[in-house]
Amino acid sequence: MRPLLEGGPMVRSLRPLIHSLRAIKSPGEVALMREAGRITAQAFKRTMAMSRGDVDEALLYAKFDFECRAHGANFLAYPPVVAGGNRANTLHYINNNQIVKDGEMVLLDGGCEYFGYVSDVTRTWPVNGKFSPAQAELYRAVLEVQMSCLSLCSPGVSLDHIYSTMLALLGQKLRELDIIASTASDTDTLKVARRYCPHHVGHYLGMDVHDTPELSRSQPLQPGMAITIEPGLYIFENNEGCPERFRGLGVRIEDDVVIQEEGGPLILSMDTPKTIADIESVCAQG
Ligand code: GLY
Ligand code: MN
Ligand code: MN
Repeated sequence: MRPLLEGGPMVRSLRPLIHSLRAIKSPGEVALMREAGRITAQAFKRTMAMSRGDVDEALLYAKFDFECRAHGANFLAYPPVVAGGNRANTLHYINNNQIVKDGEMVLLDGGCEYFGYVSDVTRTWPVNGKFSPAQAELYRAVLEVQMSCLSLCSPGVSLDHIYSTMLALLGQKLRELDIIASTASDTDTLKVARRYCPHHVGHYLGMDVHDTPELSRSQPLQPGMAITIEPGLYIFENNEGCPERFRGLGVRIEDDVVIQEEGGPLILSMDTPKTIADIESVCAQG
């Protein structure tokens, strides 16, 4: 506490209190977030369906924006990342104005706002509609880690705990892919995993994309809390320390989740294609 004026009344910021009230969503709030998730899924499907070899990131950006609004969103929740090829490795790339070449993947991190509540979803897919063997290998690794992290989303577990698990699982995958030597110690493996995924596993979600930042990520999740789960692996094209076939590939998979008392997490973004088979099938509809 600090006095507002020297010798005046003591005041305390309401922010921490407001944030803890905002953290647990009512059924009405969850309904709005479900709708934001449904709209976002539609937009992803249609954007995937119109992607093709040699496509402008700006076109995918405009299509995603259009489809969100056309399905009822008020506007996009934040400037999306539409990053082709090696640009997917630049976490906050938002220029969205380069050509994604045939044979490259695009990473689209986008979300919309629906009457005050937002979505925040990422998918990565090959613009020509067919994963190459190396793309599929890396994609599957991230997907398996993402699914394991989703299965941890239950009351009593913290975002920081899911983050530690994500790093350990990514480390295992990097070993399996021969990106980390199988002889590396567990400590070194974790250190390298942190370099290949230089961001947290997720954050709280709600009225803001990075919602209620006053709440620590070390606190146990409670029913009604909404979070994102967004592991990734980012391999720059000039990374000579890893097998050549993976260089220039960047993959992130992000879903929005509401913690439930029982029955596992509610995945708000569940209709957004995520398996290789589902993505290839939606791309083929274009
Ligand atoms: N779109 C911002 C984030 O994923 O945190
Ligand atoms: Mn996010
Ligand atoms: Mn995101």
